[in-house]
Amino acid sequence: MAKATVDVAKNFVGERLTKPDVNVDQLGPGQGAVVMIEGKRCAAYRDDDATVHAVEATCTHLGCIVGFNDAERTWECRCHGSRFDIDGAVLQGPVLRPLPGVAAS
Ligand code: FES
Repeated sequence: MAKATVDVAKNFVGERLTKPDVNVDQLGPGQGAVVMIEGKRCAAYRDDDATVHAVEATCTHLGCIVGFNDAERTWECRCHGSRFDIDGAVLQGPVLRPLPGVAAS
């Protein structure tokens, strides 16, 4: 339990100290990444029709940053295992609230 708490704390802090190295314009069809949109850390996915789906990247459970699962095309939180679809809807808890949407140009 203590090790899990330390791991969550490391993720929580570490993910905030590094800037995303991908720009939303660099995403190809089928790709997702954490990017900055108007100064906000966002989880952005470009679908096969080139439409960008963007949601806030901060998990609504306890605030870790989500990451993209290329195989499943879902957003996943490493801290406690919550999963979201590309539009932020909850697929798996413990989280209860979706990731809020973000307007992406
Ligand atoms: S912070 Fe707990 S599942 Fe994301």
